[in-house]
Amino acid sequence: MNRQDYFSDRARGMKRSVIRELLKLTAKPGIISFAGGLPAPATFPVDYVEAAVGSVIENEHATALQYGPTEGDARLREDLALIMRTDGTKTSPDHILVTTASQQGLDLISKIFLNPGDTCITGSPTYLGGLQAFKSYQGVPVGVELDDHGMIPEKLQETIKRLEGEGRRPRFIYIIPDFQNPAGVTIPESRRKIILEIARKGEYLIVEDTPYRQLRYSGESQPTFQSMAPDMVISLYTFSKIMLPGFRLGWACGPNWLIDKMVMAKQAVDLCTPPFNQAITHAMLVNGALEKGLENTIEHYSNKRTIMLECLEKEFADIPEVKWTKPEGGLFLWLTLPDRMSADDLFQNAIDENVAYVPGSAFFPKNDDFQSMRLNFSYASEEQIAEGVKRLARVVRTNI
Ligand SMILES: Cc1ncc(COP(=O)(O)O)c(C=O)c1O
Repeated sequence: MNRQDYFSDRARGMKRSVIRELLKLTAKPGIISFAGGLPAPATFPVDYVEAAVGSVIENEHATALQYGPTEGDARLREDLALIMRTDGTKTSPDHILVTTASQQGLDLISKIFLNPGDTCITGSPTYLGGLQAFKSYQGVPVGVELDDHGMIPEKLQETIKRLEGEGRRPRFIYIIPDFQNPAGVTIPESRRKIILEIARKGEYLIVEDTPYRQLRYSGESQPTFQSMAPDMVISLYTFSKIMLPGFRLGWACGPNWLIDKMVMAKQAVDLCTPPFNQAITHAMLVNGALEKGLENTIEHYSNKRTIMLECLEKEFADIPEVKWTKPEGGLFLWLTLPDRMSADDLFQNAIDENVAYVPGSAFFPKNDDFQSMRLNFSYASEEQIAEGVKRLARVVRTNI
């Protein structure tokens, strides 16, 4: 029998993440990589982790090393509700499900909403891991164009109308409202209201994925979709970018009837998120690791963002057709090449020049836009950012 015949239709359609494959190329010595989305290890609150591990082992190993409730550690859910309330989103622990980071949230969302062939709306571009999750349940992501203020409401309305007209009503609208991955753009409150109006009129659920929300370096915080419409929004959060990704810890917040279904879906996946990681995280939060760590992280990334923006201004001064977004937070910016150039075609030249990025086509539901690239500014050192942008400008200049 052909090996592929052993697999389900679903598994046959699965593909390796383009980014993970690209990252292998960027591991070459001497390369400066703006390709990954990794937080800087310098921001990990190692001392807090060490103290919390010791105290959990000493005081609560019997529960921390045991199975736990699928919903998550009750104390941690209290902490998470408090984090959200401090950020202006009224909620309570019974609306919260602890997840094995937000990627699991995306998997559970796909599992509970998508039948094979069902459409869902995403940004165009959007987070690649979201596209992977939706497609792994044979969902069909349909992209809606973004501008410098995120998803464009008129385009959203048009897309919904078209899909409804074709009898392919989307199952949900997936939005990354704050410092979007990959484009770095944020949706202002006024636009959030319009998007919500469109969703409410059509009775659509919104999936709000906001891993970078607390990483704001300038401008005003915008209210969460969750705070504006708790009855129709399911929100995904994670500790990955605001504290550390290695615990694989995140949470979903939404109406009880949705959280209940996600709990059922999660039971079949991993029974519960590791109780040990949850207990350590709770102990760290009690000791103030998040607030103190965030101050340091924000300063660290904010400096790097400023350096990257300044270097882009300087190095691309003679190529005015090259444009980029100016993110107020997060880890990424989005650079668009002159009309005739393709970031896919340029990639090998960049690798030859020892600088790497992710070609933007990876982030489009239809892989049909080649003009842009995603640049990460959180991982490379300040010196590497300056040198890497110089190399990138050289590659563009010689291939224009
Ligand atoms: C928009 C978005 N959602 C979800 C994730 C997944 O993060 P994690 O599973 O580490 O929480 C990422 C990671 O880069 C992301 O950018």
